[in-house]
Amino acid sequence: MAGKLMHACVYDGSVTGVVGLKHVQVPVPTPSKDEVLIKLEATSLNPFDWKAYKLKALLRPLLARNSPLIPGTDVAGEVVEVGSGVKKFKPGDKVVAILRLIPGGGLSEYGVANEKLTVSRPPEVSAADGAGLPIAGLTAHMALTQYAGLNLDGSGPQKNILVTAASGGVGQYAVQLAKLGGAHVTATCGARNVDLVKSLGADEVLDYRTPDGAALRSPSGRKYDAVVHCTTGVSWSVFEPNLSENGVMIDLTPGAAAMWTCIVKNVTCSGKRLAPLMLIPKDDRNLVCLVELVKERKLKTIIDSRHRLGRAEEAWRKCIDGHATGKIIVEQ
Ligand SMILES: NC(=O)c1ccc[n+]([C@@H]2O[C@H](COP(=O)([O-])OP(=O)(O)OC[C@H]3O[C@@H](n4cnc5c(N)ncnc54)[C@H](OP(=O)(O)O)[C@@H]3O)[C@@H](O)[C@H]2O)c1
Repeated sequence: MAGKLMHACVYDGSVTGVVGLKHVQVPVPTPSKDEVLIKLEATSLNPFDWKAYKLKALLRPLLARNSPLIPGTDVAGEVVEVGSGVKKFKPGDKVVAILRLIPGGGLSEYGVANEKLTVSRPPEVSAADGAGLPIAGLTAHMALTQYAGLNLDGSGPQKNILVTAASGGVGQYAVQLAKLGGAHVTATCGARNVDLVKSLGADEVLDYRTPDGAALRSPSGRKYDAVVHCTTGVSWSVFEPNLSENGVMIDLTPGAAAMWTCIVKNVTCSGKRLAPLMLIPKDDRNLVCLVELVKERKLKTIIDSRHRLGRAEEAWRKCIDGHATGKIIVEQ
């Protein structure tokens, strides 16, 4: 592929307005020793993609001179070339992968991923369903298994779990995985998504714009053993009365106040805790598990909308708006 050009959307911080994306032709990337080159079929966007772009623009001077900043890390497609050290994959293999966080690469026709962050995609898992999984699915998986202590096979004591913003990319997977783990699930979302979130398995659903929803009060009076908190703007004082004695609030987007609460709760050895979560994918283990669950029809990807690569700015704008129901997919 050396020397071949591809269509890509590069982030151009100098463009005014909300979008900042520009359609260009750039060279197809070359996989290094441990990487695979993937002909992309679908890419899903995450809030991380646009939030990180200000940082990426700052990091620009540190990146390789000709390396374009192309948003998007979560992809599905077909391997077309492999680095000399790659053992697990060969051209023609269908995969789901996480591209390098910087410079990304998802909003283009080809991307390179480390072999360690690439997993096989069986025919039962569509490109769009697979592309939805990496960041959102792994975050939900990590919150529930590592932080909330849930076993996804349902063994272990039953837990009460609250998932906020259950209609979003992370929340939809969190509800489904928590149910697989045998939890009693309370969820919050907007009124228009209550039926959808119930259909994912939530036992009780609160409209976040009602007083009970804003107070996060379980209709059945349960206290939560863990909260997977997938939105912002809710203070610790709202969570605390709703947590069980040793309950943990897992904050995916902790601000300064949350970090301070976390420190205070640790220093005072409080039973109720706030745990900030930061996903840093290191290997393919949990992604293999998620792909397998989709294959077995135990987990599904709710798709908010599909966009062509040529109109990727519509997907980007939707992601920035923060009102997606499930995952936003760009198809190449
Ligand atoms: N720390 C990490 O490693 C990590 C990893 C992944 C994601 N995150 C963060 O986690 C957050 C969630 O990510 P995501 O991909 O799930 O976002 P998303 O898909 O953009 O979430 C959108 C959904 O959130 C709902 N929502 C917004 N405010 C709400 C509220 N106050 N209560 C209940 N629902 C609300 C919206 O419903 P309406 O349209 O009805 O308002 C919409 O359906 C983001 O801040 C993201 O940056 C962090």
